[in-house]
Amino acid sequence: MSADQYDFGMIGLGTMGRNLLLNMADHSVKGAGYDKDGDKARLLEQEAKGATVKGFTDLPAFIHGLRQPRAIMMLVPAGRIVDEVIAELQPLLSKGDILIDGGNSYFKDTERRVAALETQGLHFFGMGISGGEEGARRGPSMMPGGDKEAYRVMQPILEAIAAKVDGKPCVTYIGPGAAGHFVKMVHNGIEYGLMQLIAETYAFMKQGLGMDNEAIGAVFTSWNRGRLQSFLLEITADIFRYKEKDATHLLLDDIKDEAKAKGTGKWTSQIAMDLETPIPTIDAAVSMRDLSKYKALRIELSETYPHDAAPISGNKETLLTQLEQAFYGSMVTAYTQGLHLLAKGSAAFQYELDLAAIARIWRGGCIIRSAFLNDIYQAFTINKELPILLADAAIARQLTEVLPGWREILSRAIAAGLPMPAYAASLSYFDSIGSRNMPTNLIQAQRDYFGAHTYEKTGKEGVFHTQWTQV
Ligand code: 6PG
Repeated sequence: MSADQYDFGMIGLGTMGRNLLLNMADHSVKGAGYDKDGDKARLLEQEAKGATVKGFTDLPAFIHGLRQPRAIMMLVPAGRIVDEVIAELQPLLSKGDILIDGGNSYFKDTERRVAALETQGLHFFGMGISGGEEGARRGPSMMPGGDKEAYRVMQPILEAIAAKVDGKPCVTYIGPGAAGHFVKMVHNGIEYGLMQLIAETYAFMKQGLGMDNEAIGAVFTSWNRGRLQSFLLEITADIFRYKEKDATHLLLDDIKDEAKAKGTGKWTSQIAMDLETPIPTIDAAVSMRDLSKYKALRIELSETYPHDAAPISGNKETLLTQLEQAFYGSMVTAYTQGLHLLAKGSAAFQYELDLAAIARIWRGGCIIRSAFLNDIYQAFTINKELPILLADAAIARQLTEVLPGWREILSRAIAAGLPMPAYAASLSYFDSIGSRNMPTNLIQAQRDYFGAHTYEKTGKEGVFHTQWTQV
């Protein structure tokens, strides 16, 4: 076999890695895949059906077959395995080669790897890839971060395989260092928020309005035709149609209500706290997944505090209209928080993020793609310095219009004993971030009272301390 034969190398031939190589083959990119597991390497060649895609189980032969400077992507589980693969690869790579981590690695791990490999003249790219298995095969959204010049080497391939919106590829250079993985992490945080909002909407319709699965599915389907159109609503509508063979009920009704998570949502909340950038909708989503796991405790407490959500009465049509409005407001808030975190992270880590470009590449291929991303794209295109999405005039008009319905749904849910923590966190965030006065003057007074932490006064310069107890 001659050297320099293949345009792109993939390490890890699970479904994602294999599908990305097959996607490349559709665009005449000669791809080489490596996996220790010979079955996976063979499956790649079988599925490629004659296209120039080769599966390797020998690492040096795989590396030798790649055109230089090499562009190699790892699609292996995040964490220790990434470091192990890098250690195996290092002696085989040459100066100028590009190594891409296409998994959901923690961005601080990526920072560390970028710095370590830079000293050897290697370009390490943390690249978020969104869209799941189908996205990998038909067109994902990709968020590569690393050396800008090195990006040019892989740009044509990435642009060819990316999802397209208005003819434009859903990939762009994100920024230096770990910018790509940082942005993907926040993407996933927004994903958690939106999923939780959809789940709470389901509860409102099922428990509050007493609707059956068919009727609930019909609402999601109709929402997906309007301004709420999104991939997550589309798949939710599908889930509300899916029955296993010969079953008389939905598969959904057989699924345990204990949610799992791989960590990206939690990381988003953790870093948001570090950066003092509130993202309460996303925090609520992370917490509710965790809370769902306490099944035995939940059952026990449900016996101590027996309560079924009381039915929500009223005109169903009106309530569903208000629910759509409440979802719209909460959804806007979830995106707002994510984008605010991107802006703050960009400043803190010098990522130079272009929020309009990020909104543009999120419009297709990724899990949080939605019609609303067009509005976000517009907002940051019109004003690159927009301090927060809620400040955009067009979005403000929509939010003002949905606000009464948003409030009505929340108050009805709370009165009925129906938990909607992500909706509630969204509305409280919205009300707080837009409020001239917060009750935090009292917190300052308390801090000063018990700890002499001092406070500042309105209309008077300086720092003050008071002996609060009268002696
Ligand atoms: C994507 C997804 C993808 C993955 C999630 C699942 O953008 O394609 O976000 O990366 O499905 O990481 O995350 P959890 O297991 O944490 O829900």
